[in-house]
Amino acid sequence: MYNIKDVTGQKLVEVQPGELLLNVLVRAGLMPPDSPCGGKGLCRKCLVKIRMEGDWQEVLACQTRVISDLEIDIARLGAQKQVCVSEGSGQRSQFNPAVCKVFIDKLPGKLTLCWEELCEQAGIPVQQAIPENIKVLRDLAEFARHSASFTAVIAGQEVLALEAGNTLTEMYGMAFDIGTTTVVGYLLDLSSGRRLATASTLNPQVQYGADVMTRITAAAENSAGLSRLRDCIIECVNQLILEAAQSAAVSKDAIYDLVFVGNPSMQHLFFGIQPAGIGLAPYQPILRSDMLYRAVDIGLTVNAAAQLYWLPGVSGFVGADTIGMLISQPIDDAEQVTIALDIGTNGEMVLAWKDELWACSTAAGPAFEGACMACGMRAQPGAIDKVIINGDGVQYRVIGNVLPRGICGSGIINAIAAMINAGLIDKSGRLLEPADTNPLRELVVKRAGRGAFLLVAADQTADGKEIVITQEDIRQLQLAKAAIVSGLKMMLKQAGIDVPAVTKVVFAGAFGLFLTSENVGTIGLLPESLCDKIVYVGNAAGFGAENALLSKQMRQVAGEIAKRVNYVELAGRPEFSDIFIGELYFSAVKAQ
Ligand code: FES
Repeated sequence: MYNIKDVTGQKLVEVQPGELLLNVLVRAGLMPPDSPCGGKGLCRKCLVKIRMEGDWQEVLACQTRVISDLEIDIARLGAQKQVCVSEGSGQRSQFNPAVCKVFIDKLPGKLTLCWEELCEQAGIPVQQAIPENIKVLRDLAEFARHSASFTAVIAGQEVLALEAGNTLTEMYGMAFDIGTTTVVGYLLDLSSGRRLATASTLNPQVQYGADVMTRITAAAENSAGLSRLRDCIIECVNQLILEAAQSAAVSKDAIYDLVFVGNPSMQHLFFGIQPAGIGLAPYQPILRSDMLYRAVDIGLTVNAAAQLYWLPGVSGFVGADTIGMLISQPIDDAEQVTIALDIGTNGEMVLAWKDELWACSTAAGPAFEGACMACGMRAQPGAIDKVIINGDGVQYRVIGNVLPRGICGSGIINAIAAMINAGLIDKSGRLLEPADTNPLRELVVKRAGRGAFLLVAADQTADGKEIVITQEDIRQLQLAKAAIVSGLKMMLKQAGIDVPAVTKVVFAGAFGLFLTSENVGTIGLLPESLCDKIVYVGNAAGFGAENALLSKQMRQVAGEIAKRVNYVELAGRPEFSDIFIGELYFSAVKAQ
């Protein structure tokens, strides 16, 4: 065994000879380095500083095997908490949770209580209610023998558990949004409907790739791949359960109901189901229906009788997270033509008009999350998230108010929009050289033989490395924004609705919250005429998961909505390619 120590000599973890450094860092609970390429040695985002047999050196953690004791500079691992947007807004459902409790007071003068009598008192039809869990009957016999009062925990027509005494006010549930990038959990009091705590983190699967396709490949490579991806998300959810329960000072054992939303790839990996079918035409998930299981059977550490519900989906790329978004928003207004969209590594969008719903999904890649850009990073302390370019030069804002280390997705959009407005980018996306008299002239530089815009000089950054927007970054953004706007136009075309007829654009997800409508229009992420119709709603998928936790009727509504959606397949459609090519341009750029 070898030891990995930090720079002060403190031992962090023991390592088997030959173990991959990336895996060790994750196993040690250190922040996983970004690995958008899925550990193929291509993206250089897993660069870490180590001393192994001699001097300090920078190595790619995904390509380095541990062959001796080593020291690691963990301060440079980006061991910062991911900024996760947990708040969403929308319409709350009527409070009527799927799990409830009934107090059974001891019956004076009655020494026994049989199952049939319990069902009668709890209002459950006896013939349908043989308990699945034999422990319920064992506990009932003990309570009856001692003529003790108890509380029955009931889900639908099933008695999940019996608890001694009156525990009516001790009943909790958690709603989760399993995003490709972040995971958010909300702890709710199911006796009052109040939210007690929120816990969130980076999805640890990012170590296997930033986008769903890279993770599908990682899971399909060998049997260990799927287990690794599943194990790390289950561990992550258990950690969030623990964090939320501790922060609200409630027992994990009093958590009886869990509701999940996430895209179909996240769903497959969570349940340990091979997602390979989603990665190949015709891109089929293993199922579209909702799922109900015992939480303990999936590996979650809550009450052993707790249930786990996953909302239904629509297709291989439109899943429970989209349905969660829909049950959080008033989309059934017949007067409105509403578009709801959630943009991350994929862009899912829904069009609602009268009784009809259409949905599609486009692969935007990790450009909007910053990870694949030359100086891109996730939205963590040290990331530039806002950029202004004017006559005085460049001004920027850094998350956490510290020295900058890179730029996150919203920062890149702001920066490129500002560069367009400053006349530094032409319609085709080419970075221009300003005239010699232009004060921005010295910021347009050459790096590796190609044009780049110098945002922050090396002597003003946290790690002494300059922060630039490269020509390649601009191209990546063009591809991503063209994918989104082309999907949207195809969906409108399929529904026979013109762009000007759209009355409302609901922009969900973390990404939207840091953008201005003006910048959305400048880069052409949406048709310009829609930009003043945008409403930002934050984490609507998480809000929808909470709705389904608070109301069993909402689960029914989710099922009905999922069945009503007309899925618009974009893959292999020539019209999509035609629209896509046209949308690569920055049409907001005035003719030069
Ligand atoms: S280079 Fe290591 S994860 Fe991409």
